[in-house]
Amino acid sequence: MTVPELRTTRLQLRPLRPADADGLHEALGHREVTRYLSDVPPSPERTRMIVERLCAASYPTGMGHWVWQERTTGALVGRGYLVPSPVDPRERPEAGWFLGHRWWGTGLACEAGQAILRYAFVALACPAVIARVHPDNAASLRLAERLGFHGGEPLGDAANPRLLMVAPRRAAPGRGYPVGHPG
Ligand SMILES: CC(C)(COP(=O)(O)OP(=O)(O)OC[C@H]1O[C@@H](n2cnc3c(N)ncnc32)[C@H](O)[C@@H]1OP(=O)(O)O)[C@@H](O)C(=O)NCCC(=O)NCCS
Repeated sequence: MTVPELRTTRLQLRPLRPADADGLHEALGHREVTRYLSDVPPSPERTRMIVERLCAASYPTGMGHWVWQERTTGALVGRGYLVPSPVDPRERPEAGWFLGHRWWGTGLACEAGQAILRYAFVALACPAVIARVHPDNAASLRLAERLGFHGGEPLGDAANPRLLMVAPRRAAPGRGYPVGHPG
């Protein structure tokens, strides 16, 4: 198992598959979405390579990558992850989020983020989750704060700065149990 399906009011979060590459490229392969990650959006070929690499990676049980699908339309709107952090000495897993620009400001990223955190805290019993956010990425910082992350210790170098945000386990708001979970 990589990650289980999660459901929120408007979204289904399901494990990322190689076949999602073109849909993800359509939703996320735009300058607004990649601004703080790379100079130019990846080509469709590069997106396919990245998705294949993410799908082939091996993670501890229950961690990995999700695509976010709108439940009413089936549209692929974004993706998120919960994976071991390459930078955290305390071995807290790292969460991340990417939403297609046309859905920004609708609360979908918050809904998906809540589901991922709730899953991390309830199903995996993680004591805390971290996120690394570019200091100029106001939307992502706001989302992180809304999800209960705090902190902001600087990481990286001038060319690739990041803030280390930490969300401690708590009663995470919102829905987001794995499908079939009694909660
Ligand atoms: C970071 C990112 C996911 C945030 O997306 P977002 O749309 O701003 O976040 P949300 O879905 O939570 O939407 C938040 C806004 O929707 C509003 N909202 C919340 N629930 C809502 C609802 N049910 N209906 C309508 N609006 C709603 C909130 O009030 C909020 O508005 P505000 O910021 O003015 O207060 C998005 O900017 C993104 O994908 N960026 C590029 C990728 C990236 O940099 N990822 C981070 C890597 S660390």
